[in-house]
This record gives sequence, C-alpha cells and structure tokens, in this order.
Amino acid sequence: MSLNIVILAAGQGKRMCSTLPKVLHRLAGKTLLEHVVEKAYQLHPTETPIVVYGHQGKMVRDTLTHLKVKWVEQREQWGTGHALSQALPFLSDANEKNRVLILYGDVPLISVRTLQHFLAATPANALGIITAKMANPSGLGRIIRNAKNEIIDIIEESDADPIQKMIPEINSGIYLVPVHLLKKWLPHLEKNNAQQEYYLPTIVRMAVQESSVIHGEYTTCHEEIAGVNDRAQLSALERYYQRTLAENIMRQGVTLYDPLRLDIRGELTVGQDVVMDINVIIEGKVKIGNHCVIGANTVLRNVTLGDYAEIKSHSVIDGADIANHTVIGPFARIRPDTIIGAHAHIGNFVEIKKSRIQDYTKINHLSYIGDSEIGKRVNIGAGTITCNYDGVKKHRTIIGDDVFIGSDSQLVAPVEIGEGATIGAGSTITRNAPPNQLTLSRTQQRNIENWKKPEGGEN
Ligand code: UD1
Ligand code: CA
Repeated sequence: MSLNIVILAAGQGKRMCSTLPKVLHRLAGKTLLEHVVEKAYQLHPTETPIVVYGHQGKMVRDTLTHLKVKWVEQREQWGTGHALSQALPFLSDANEKNRVLILYGDVPLISVRTLQHFLAATPANALGIITAKMANPSGLGRIIRNAKNEIIDIIEESDADPIQKMIPEINSGIYLVPVHLLKKWLPHLEKNNAQQEYYLPTIVRMAVQESSVIHGEYTTCHEEIAGVNDRAQLSALERYYQRTLAENIMRQGVTLYDPLRLDIRGELTVGQDVVMDINVIIEGKVKIGNHCVIGANTVLRNVTLGDYAEIKSHSVIDGADIANHTVIGPFARIRPDTIIGAHAHIGNFVEIKKSRIQDYTKINHLSYIGDSEIGKRVNIGAGTITCNYDGVKKHRTIIGDDVFIGSDSQLVAPVEIGEGATIGAGSTITRNAPPNQLTLSRTQQRNIENWKKPEGGEN
C-alpha cells in the first residue's frame, strides 16, 4: 500500500493580474507552491511528490529548483482533470490499495493535521473529499448530497442553477483516490460544461455510478482550504497566517505590543521574555535569545541575537551575529557577514559591513565601518569612515584593543591601528598607526589677525 501525492499547479491564475505565475506569489515570504510541497513532505509519502506545472513553467521550475519533487508538465491548461491525467502514468496501481492524495498549488495553508486525519479516516477503497460549509461559497464547486446525506455530485459555480448556488457546502479540491480507480475514471472525463474544461470533480459522478464509497471529510477551518485566486484572498490568508504565528510566539513567552503588526517571513526561533514593539519584520533565519528588546520598525534578516540584546527602532540588520547585552540603533544598518561581540554599542546612522567588532566597543554616531576587524573596548568617534574601497578592490582595516578614534577621521585601508592608539579628530590615516601613541594628520590651525568681516551683502 503506497501513498502518492500530486500537486496541481499548472494554472495561470488570471485573477491575480500578474506576469508571475500564481504559485510563485508569496505568502509569509515563501511561494505558495513551497508551502504545499512542505506539507506533502511532512506526510511522508511513499514516492517523491509530483507537481503538475504548466503556465510559465520555466519560471516556476527555475525559481524552485531546490524542491525535491517530480515535475510533470501540462502543456495546455484544459482543467483540473486534464492536469491530473498528466501525472497518471507516474502513479502505480500495482497494489489495489495504492492511493493518491491531490493537493492544489494555490491552497497553501492546508494543515498536516487535517491531512493526516483525512488519510486515516478515508476507507482504503473510497474516494475521499475534504469539504466545508462557507458563508459565502460563491466561485467554488458545490457538494450535492442525496436524502441519505451521501455525496453524489459536485457542481461548479458556472454550471450551477440558482438553487444549487444556495448550497453552502463546497469542494475544497483536496481528494484521496485509489490509483486503480483514478486510472479507470480519468480517461472518461469530458469537456461538456460551461468552462469547456476537463473537471476533476466529475470523478464523484463516476464513483456514484459504480457505487464506490465516497467519504466526505468535513473541516471547519476555512483558511486551511482557502484557495488564492486574487490578491485580496492572498492578503487575507497572509494576515490569518501571521496572526497564528504571532499567537505561537506569544504562547512561548514573547510580549508583542501588537500581534497584528509583526511579520514573520522566515523562520524565527525566540527565547523568553522578549519584547517586540510594532512593525517588526523577520526574514530568513532569525534567532533571538532571552530578554531581548526589539524596537519599532525594525527589520531582522538572517540574524542571531544573544540574550539581553536590544535593537532600537528603525534599524535594519541583515546577516549578523550579535552577542549578549549589545545595543544597536536607533537607525542603524548592519549588513551581511558582521559579528558583534557582547556589551557593544552601535548607534544612530552607523553602517557596518563584513566586519568583526569585539566586546565593549562603541560606535555611536554616523560612521561607516566596512571590511574591518575591531578589538575590545574601542571607541570610534562620530563620523569615522573606513575607506575600504579604492575603486577596484576592497581592503581591510584592523583596529587593536582599547583604541580611541577621534571624530571625523578617515582610515584609508589597508591600514592597521595598533593597540591602545589614539587617533586625533579629523585625521586622514593612510599609514599604520603604532600602538599606544597619538597619531594625527591635520593641517595646523591658523588665526588671521586684523581680518575684517565683509560688509553689506544681500541678507
Ligand atoms: C476548483 C474546483 C472547485 C473547488 C475549488 C477549490 C474544479 C473544476 N473545480 O475550482 O470544485 O471548489 O477548486 O479551490 O476542479 N490547475 C492546473 N491545470 C489546469 C487547471 C487548474 O494545474 O488546467 C490547477 C491550478 O493551478 C490550481 C488548481 O488546479 O492550483 C485549481 O484550479 P482553479 O482553476 O483555481 O480551480 P477553481 O476554479 O478554483
Ligand atoms: Ca482555485
């Protein structure tokens, strides 16, 4: 007995009004199709999941090369039944008990729990369908039941009469079918319907004709089976999903001043007693320790924060590892490959790129630090610039422990400032500065005696 999974993802998604195929639109930073494929993996199918792709197929495959799936092309999009037919040759019916679960590339939030329950509850020889009752079922296929409450048909909106349109129970589009039955049924689909398509739901009628068992799995979580057909539906699902992510981290001991104003578009691991102000955006892999404070309007992308770290408002941190008790921002920009030690302070309008900054070092105002190695307890004055680029190559700046760099200095790399050195404010340092000495490079100050201020003028 085997379980195969086929994900239908060939449709254009006209209502998205987009040059991007629908399944490449993103929810919580991940494409719709990736969401579905991940669910498929979690069900541990016997075979590699099959994705039926088609519209803008090259773009879909090129974007998602990392997915371990079997790609099957549907050249022309003649409907859901036709789409599934393309996968048929790859499904084995060697065993009568082999089943195939059909998922949709545009139904991203179906839960593994619901699917596991569906798999367990559908009898081995039955056709299983997940259904739901909707307050507004319009646009969806309606479930037709007989007097004994058995499912006997599915009618698409465009083929439904006014009475059928009043039926609130809808077809989620998720089915579980014995492969040998599918192989018998699919070749008999016809296009004699309003949309001139091969409808997959027609297999229900075929099952009824053969007196096959039909199992309806009823779900009350509408977001789980909600399809994304337009951008309004996409944003509704995004909000729902973000809300569930926010609730999860609050349950783990995180204070969110407003759970509706946090966006997690990646993987977040977070400790206890963390406080997040509004409009925080998490992208990529982010790990936050215990007792951290994240200020308003901050972006954290691929960041690791130690315990008691504080990110003040309006900071953008991308690709950095920041140790315990360090304070960053407000208005700081940290770029990839940056490592910042413990108890450090990075202040406003400071940009740091590809640098290592050790414990207790302070860079508090208006500086650019790139390709640098900075020791412990260093104080970098306001407006210090590491001139790391000569127009062709990048060069490194090395600053020893306990160095003091006076404000408005330029350190022209490659250059090394020895331990304990002091650089006088306003210096342009082009050669190495020895340890424990004062180095400065500025023209002597002159005072012009008897100088007269010009008179008159326009203001
Ligand atoms: C389908 C169902 C409807 C159900 C609804 C639930 C049919 C005929 N109707 O309607 O009963 O209530 O889903 O969301 O099945 N696709 C292909 N190739 C095609 C056409 C579609 O791969 O030729 C894929 C699409 O990419 C999409 C999925 O199948 O992922 C569903 O197609 P869509 O056109 O959105 O079907 P609905 O009109 O939503
Ligand atoms: Ca759909």
